[in-house]
Amino acid sequence: MLQMPDDRENGQMPAAVINRADYVAPAYWIDTVDLCFDLDPAKTRVLNRMKLRRNPDVPAQPLKLDGEELNLARVLVNGQGTSFRMEGSRLVLDNLPDDFELEIFTTTCPAKNTKLMGLYVSNDSFFTQCEAEGFRRITYFLDRPDVMASYSVTLRADKALYPVLLSNGNLVEQGMLEDGTNGPRHFARWVDPHKKPSYLFALVAGQLVSREQRITSRAGKEHTLQVYVRPGDLDKTEHAMNSLMHSVAWDEARFGLPLDLERFMIVATSDFNMGAMENKGLNIFNTKYVLANQATATDTDYSNIESVVGHEYFHHWTGNRITCRDWFQLSLKEGLTVFRDQEFSQDLCGEASARAVKRIEDVRVLRTAQFPEDAGPMAHPVRPDSYIEISNFYTVTIYEKGAEVVRMMQTLVGRKGFASGMTLYFERHDGSAVTCDDFAQAIADANPGSDLSRLLPQFKRWYSQAGTPRVHAQGVYDAAARTYTLTLAQSCAPTAGQPVKEPFVIPVGLGLLGADGADLPLQLAHEAAAAGTSRTVVLTQASETLTFVNVDAEPVPSILRGFTAPVVLEFDYTDAQLLHLLAHDSDPFNRWEAGQRLAVRRAIKSIAAVAYPVDAAPLDDAYVAAMRSVLHHPGLDAAFKELVLTLPSEIYLAEQLDVVDPQRIHAVREAMRQQLAVALAGDWQQVYETNQDTGAYIPDPASSGRRALAGMALSQLCLAAMTTGDTVWPGKTLQRFKDAGNMTDRFNALSALVSSGHPLAAQALTKFHAMFKDEALVIDKWFGLQASAPDRGGNILPAVRQLMKHPDFSLRNPNRARSVISTYCQANPAAFHRTDAAGYVFWSDRVMELDAINPQVAARLARALDRWSKLAEPYRSAAREAIARVAAKTDLSKDTLEVVTRALAD
Ligand code: PHE
Ligand code: ZN
Repeated sequence: MLQMPDDRENGQMPAAVINRADYVAPAYWIDTVDLCFDLDPAKTRVLNRMKLRRNPDVPAQPLKLDGEELNLARVLVNGQGTSFRMEGSRLVLDNLPDDFELEIFTTTCPAKNTKLMGLYVSNDSFFTQCEAEGFRRITYFLDRPDVMASYSVTLRADKALYPVLLSNGNLVEQGMLEDGTNGPRHFARWVDPHKKPSYLFALVAGQLVSREQRITSRAGKEHTLQVYVRPGDLDKTEHAMNSLMHSVAWDEARFGLPLDLERFMIVATSDFNMGAMENKGLNIFNTKYVLANQATATDTDYSNIESVVGHEYFHHWTGNRITCRDWFQLSLKEGLTVFRDQEFSQDLCGEASARAVKRIEDVRVLRTAQFPEDAGPMAHPVRPDSYIEISNFYTVTIYEKGAEVVRMMQTLVGRKGFASGMTLYFERHDGSAVTCDDFAQAIADANPGSDLSRLLPQFKRWYSQAGTPRVHAQGVYDAAARTYTLTLAQSCAPTAGQPVKEPFVIPVGLGLLGADGADLPLQLAHEAAAAGTSRTVVLTQASETLTFVNVDAEPVPSILRGFTAPVVLEFDYTDAQLLHLLAHDSDPFNRWEAGQRLAVRRAIKSIAAVAYPVDAAPLDDAYVAAMRSVLHHPGLDAAFKELVLTLPSEIYLAEQLDVVDPQRIHAVREAMRQQLAVALAGDWQQVYETNQDTGAYIPDPASSGRRALAGMALSQLCLAAMTTGDTVWPGKTLQRFKDAGNMTDRFNALSALVSSGHPLAAQALTKFHAMFKDEALVIDKWFGLQASAPDRGGNILPAVRQLMKHPDFSLRNPNRARSVISTYCQANPAAFHRTDAAGYVFWSDRVMELDAINPQVAARLARALDRWSKLAEPYRSAAREAIARVAAKTDLSKDTLEVVTRALAD
C-alpha cells in the first residue's frame, strides 16, 4: 500500500511513514476527467465525472480514492447509485466493473481554506494549488503523479465578481448562464489536450487583468503568452513577460524544446505557500516572483523573477511532459529544472565574469542552506527513502543538491553530450511518469564511453546517499624530481539510517598556479606531454594520488575549480597561498573562494580565542590590504568585488564549528565588518563615487553589480560613522534614500542606516512605509529589514513583537508572516539565539499558532532549530526544550510533527 489511511486529523493514529520501496502501480487508471465547478467562496460545488479502467497489471482490488476536507453528496457508477465506504478520509468502492464511469459530487469551502492547498480564496479571487497532494482537497481522486488523465473543466461563477475564468489548456467555449441570486452568471469551458497528473491541475477565477504577447516559434507556430495580475499591477508585468519570452527562446535554442501550447498563462497571487507552480499552461506565481518595476523591485527581485519564470516554464518539459512516477522522484523534475534555470540565467548573462558571479551565488545558497540540511536532522538523499509529509521534502537537497547532481552529469559527458542525453530522455519517456534512474540512464546511454556511462551505478550514489562528502587534499612538492603530488581522499559522515557511505564519483576541477600567478601546463606522470592548464579529474576511490610532472617550483593548487561537485574541500593552505589565489586564480570561483577561506580562518581564530569580549580587530594588515586591492582592481567587475568583500555569513561560519555560540559568531563578524569599514573608509568613498549609474535603470548584471557594490560602500561608510562620529556619510545616505531613482538604491541606503544602527534610520523607515503603504511586496521588505537588523543588546525581539502588532501585519498571508517571523528566526541568528531563551519561546509559540492556520508555513519555520544539537549551552538545552514543547502539542499537523520529531531524534 502506498499510503495508510490518515486519521491524524482526528488526533488518533501516529502519522504513517511512506516508503519508496513500497511503490505499487495504481489499481485503476483514470482516462478522462470532466470537472464542473460552481464557484462560491462559502460553498463551491464540484461535479467530477471520470472514466476509469482497471489496471490489469495489478491484482483486482477495491478503488480507494484520496480525499481531504470534502463534503460528499453523491456517488454514481455508470449513472447508478452505488454503495461505498470510507477508510479514514478515503472513499472506497468495491465490486467495480473493469471499465466504468464514476460521478462524484462534493462541496468545499474555499473561503475557510487557510492552508492554501486545494481551492482557496485570495483577495476575492479563486486560486488552486495541487502539488503535491492538494487535488484531493478539490475532489476524490487517485491523487498520485503516475495517474495521468485528460481533463476538461467547466467554471461557472458570478460574472461581476469573477469576470476572468481560467483553467489548463484551451478555452473552447464561454457564455452566459441564468442569473444567480447576486446577478448575472457566466461560464467558461477549458480543454487540456495533454494528459496530466492531478498535481498539475489549476483553476483561477477573479478580477484580473493581463499583459498579452503573441509570439511565433522557430517552427512558425503562433502562441499567446499572458501574465495575469490584479488591476493596478499591470505596470509591473513587463519584466516577467520578457523573462517568459527569453525562456521560450532559450529552451528551444539550448535543448531544442519548443513551446507546444497555444496559450501559456502566468497568474500572480499574493497568498501563496511557495515561489510558484508549474500547472500545465497555467502557472500560478507568488506575486513576489512576478511583479516588478524599478520603483518597487530591487535588482535581486529582477533576477529572481527571471529565474523563477524560467524555472516554471522549463517544467513544461521537465516535470510536465515527463513527470515523476512517485514523489520520491521529486528531484527528477526539481533538480533538473533548477539546473536548467541556473543555466538559463548564466546564458542570459553573456559575459564570463557575470556567469561566474551567478555560479558563486548559487554555490553560496547551496553551502549556507543545503550543507546544513545535509548535516542535520532532516538530512535525506536526493531521492529520499521515506517521508511522513511530502510537503516537507521540497527542500534545498531535492532542489539545489539535485541540480548539482545534474550539473555533475553534464560535467562528465560534456555540454553537447548532455544535450543529446536530454534528447534521448524525451525520446524514451515523453508523456510518461518515470524515475531518477530513467533520467540518469538516458544521459549515460546517449554518451557511451563517457565517465558517466562507465561509472553509472557508482554515480547514482549521489541519489541514494545523504550527507555532504568531504574531499581532503594534500600536496607534496619534490624539487629534485620536479613533481607535485596531490592526494585526494574522500569521506562522508554517517547520517540517520546510513552509518557507512560508499565512495562517490566526484569530478574535481583542477589547476596549478606558478609563482607569477599564471596557470601551469598540466602533465600527469603517465602522460606523454602537457595538455591544458585546467582539467577535471574524476575521483572514484576513497583515496587517489595524482602526480604532476615537470613542475619547476612548488605550485599553488587550485582545487575544485568552478565548484565541480557539492563537497567540502579541505586543504591546508597557508595564508600566502590563499592570498596568491585571491590575487591570480584564473578560475573566478576559486579566486572568490580563497578570499572566503582567508576570512573564515580569521573569524574562527577570534571565535575560538579566550578573549572576552571579542578581539576588536580580528583582521590583519595582509587581509585588509588584499581586500583593498580587490576593491581597486581594474580587471574585476563590481559584482565580483561585492562578493569578495562580503564576509562569510554567520550561518556559514556556524557550520564550520563543532560547537556554536551564535552570539560570539555575531560579535566577531560584526567586529570584522567594523574593522573593514574603518580601515577602508577612504576606499569605500571612492568606490561609492565611482560606481554611480546616472542613466536609465537597467537591471543587467553590470549595472546591478555597480549598485550592489555602491550599496555595500554606503553600508560600510555608515558603519564607520558610528565609531568616527562622522555625520557626512549618514547624511548623504539619507539623501540618497530620499532621491534614489530606483528601489535598489533606495533600499540599499535604507539598509545602510538600519544595519549601522544610525539614529537617522527611524525617520527613513517611517518615510519608507508612508511612500509604499499600498505596495504589499515593498511592505514585506520593510518588515523584513527590521526583523533582520543586527541585534544590539537584545533589541530585535521586542521590535519583532511590536511589528506583529502593526496594522499591516498578518499571520495568514505567508509572505507577510515570513517577512517578520521567518526572517527573525532564520536569518538573524544573534537576535534569535538569546541567552534568556525568549527567542525560542517566541519561535515555539509562532510555530504552534501557524500550524493551526497553515501547516506548510509552520513546518518551514519549525526548521529554524534544525541545528540545535550543535549549540553551546545555555542555548542547546533551551532550544531542545522549545522543540519538545512544540512536539508535545496534541493536534499538530503531520508536517510540523515530522520536523520536530526528527529534530528531537538528532
Ligand atoms: N513545483 C514548484 C516548483 O518548484 C514548487 C511548489 C511545490 C509549489 C509545492 C507549490 C507547492 O517549481
Ligand atoms: Zn520546480
